[in-house]
Amino acid sequence: MPIIFHEETGQFHLFNDDVSYVMELKEQFLVHVYWGERIRSFKQSDTYPKKDRSSFSPNPYRTNDATFSLDNALQEFPGFDSGDYREPAFEMTHPDGAKATQFKYASHTIYSGKKRLEGLPATYVVEDDEAETLEITLADDIRGIRATLSYTIYRDRSVITKSVQYQNTSEHTIQLNRALSSCVDFDDAAFDLLQLPGAWAREKQIVKTPLAMGIHVLDSKRGASSTHQQPFIALLRKNTTEHHGDVYGFHFVYSGSFTIRTEVDTFSQTRVLVGINPHNFGWQLEPNDIFQTPEVVLVYAKNGLNDMSHTFHSLYTERLARGEHQLQERPVLINNWESTYFQFDEQKLLNLADGAKALGAELFVLDDGWFEARNDDTTSLGDWIVDRKKLPSGLASLSSQIHERGLKFGLWFEPEMISEQSQLFKAHPDWHIHVDGYPTSLGRNQLVLDFSRQEVRAEIVRQMTEILDAVPIDYIKWDMNRNMTEIGSRGLTPQQQMELPHRYMLGLYEVIDYLTERYPHILFENCSGGGGRFDPGMAYYMPQSWASDNTDAIERIKIQYGTSLIFPPVMICAQLSESPNHQVGRITPLQTRADVAMSANFGIMLDLNKESQATLDAVQQDIAWYKKHRQLIQFGRFSRLISPYESNFAGWSFTAPNQEESLVFFFKILGAASEPFLRLQLRDLNPEYMYAIGDTTYSGEELMKFGLYLNPDMSGDFQSKVLHLKHVVTKM
Ligand code: DGJ
Repeated sequence: MPIIFHEETGQFHLFNDDVSYVMELKEQFLVHVYWGERIRSFKQSDTYPKKDRSSFSPNPYRTNDATFSLDNALQEFPGFDSGDYREPAFEMTHPDGAKATQFKYASHTIYSGKKRLEGLPATYVVEDDEAETLEITLADDIRGIRATLSYTIYRDRSVITKSVQYQNTSEHTIQLNRALSSCVDFDDAAFDLLQLPGAWAREKQIVKTPLAMGIHVLDSKRGASSTHQQPFIALLRKNTTEHHGDVYGFHFVYSGSFTIRTEVDTFSQTRVLVGINPHNFGWQLEPNDIFQTPEVVLVYAKNGLNDMSHTFHSLYTERLARGEHQLQERPVLINNWESTYFQFDEQKLLNLADGAKALGAELFVLDDGWFEARNDDTTSLGDWIVDRKKLPSGLASLSSQIHERGLKFGLWFEPEMISEQSQLFKAHPDWHIHVDGYPTSLGRNQLVLDFSRQEVRAEIVRQMTEILDAVPIDYIKWDMNRNMTEIGSRGLTPQQQMELPHRYMLGLYEVIDYLTERYPHILFENCSGGGGRFDPGMAYYMPQSWASDNTDAIERIKIQYGTSLIFPPVMICAQLSESPNHQVGRITPLQTRADVAMSANFGIMLDLNKESQATLDAVQQDIAWYKKHRQLIQFGRFSRLISPYESNFAGWSFTAPNQEESLVFFFKILGAASEPFLRLQLRDLNPEYMYAIGDTTYSGEELMKFGLYLNPDMSGDFQSKVLHLKHVVTKM
């Protein structure tokens, strides 16, 4: 898995068995050459055709070469105001007020392993021989600024990660206005762009459009990665499917505002830039200071979207998530939110816990409403003190009663927020993000605490640790329900105000890092009104996320399908809820609701008092079934088989690494008359094996090449079917 530098040609070649990434030095500029399927020996250099494209394409200072222009060269780190009119990777204001900056090669180093990024989430290695890293330092010595570009290539994964360190080597402050993490230039534009936009309760919807000439920006300006966009795109070669075609995936390991820009230039070349959103961003880089950008994960897949997902899934399961729970089967939980909302008392909770235990649940989660006078969403955030009216004997007693029933105990927090009606707000009316003397918007009746301030973080940590030290708690649901507005901090100078959104993220990461280290046995679930901050940044600290507040099975099929492009099932939390569904009012058969939720990290959110005995019996069986198969579902190889975005069906499978077993989930959305038959080809099986499905056996080859007719016997709306395939030893 070497990274090779050819002295004679100035070429860098990063490669493993699957992928090659090639760059070279051209007049000291770092230009991009190739990213794609592994090329064993890359002999050519200076490949980019030399052509004077017009007098409107400036040539770098005194190169005397009209055939080389930064305006159309493929670049790794395009500069600002020095001849490239496309989107830059950075923008900075120097003490003279000008912005012209041009980085040239200064030095490089290559080493085994991968460094951690100070204060930021990132993928990692356990052993140094898992990856190799190249650091290329570029400098503008006139300005006194350096940029060190880091590239890590994993030995056994089609993954390259990139990030940048900006260092001020001058004696003056330099104002960073844009400091992106990665640029990749392609020499053509024959791609479709796949993105995962959404909204509250409609997260991660797959949208695919042809890449068009000009600039396309997808971003979040919200101070969170958001439900509205995921910090991810994939460029797909035309006609790419789930199983065929070249895919280039980009995923930003960050939970704040981001930008992903694609630009197709006039020569049909494509630039992809990823980084912190320059909107409401600025950074005063003092002499000798370093600004470290978050990391971008680049995945190249030659066999379609499933191939890309497999790479993301194993990387995120094995080398992004951490801690005790990382590779452990996750408990089946019951959450009280949809059954009680804010209206509960101890007895109601214990009844629910009794019912859940009888069904086989393993973890009882007490959601919002347990603290102070939190009877609706207008009050009490910031006051993490148990509400003795609802829970007179306190949290410790509730926790021990839950534990006595043989269940684990989990608790909801929304630590980053403050309500105007709270003791914390009375004591510290300026601790939220706001602009002094200017009205502050409310979102869900609440304000965002200024986590860029140390004293604010310390107080929240104090309150939380007081509870966590006193009450045995096994799980925390960490929620966050509004985005930032009126960006301003009392803790920062006027020149630093635009540092707030990123400083907030650094503060948040520091707090979560501290708490997850201090309480390693607590299973943390990331939540932001559902999937509003379900991104790889949070996945580094919290190994699972609530995918959506939408618990409707039919809507969830699309949400989970979209989410599975980048996140493995074990990270995607799904719960069986009641019908009619609370978010969309749909009536859906119990088994379909259960099968959708059991396709991920499973739990229930039912009011058990309301449900019939028949329903309870069925749920009990589902929970038992899920427990039996959860190793396979949570940690098996997940493949999408048929898309709900392109058909009336959805299907996916979970297959054991040794191919001994597979589970196929198939859904039919609407009933239809005279419907064409659907023959579904399965995946990931061993073609040489015979598999039993019920009493019938089939060869793996037949199941993958021919498949099975799955829809003819399904009638009615919202139907599901689950097949369990087991390898049997018999003659073909
Ligand atoms: C939003 C979450 O997504 C819900 O599951 C629930 O925890 C509520 N917040 C509670 O306010």
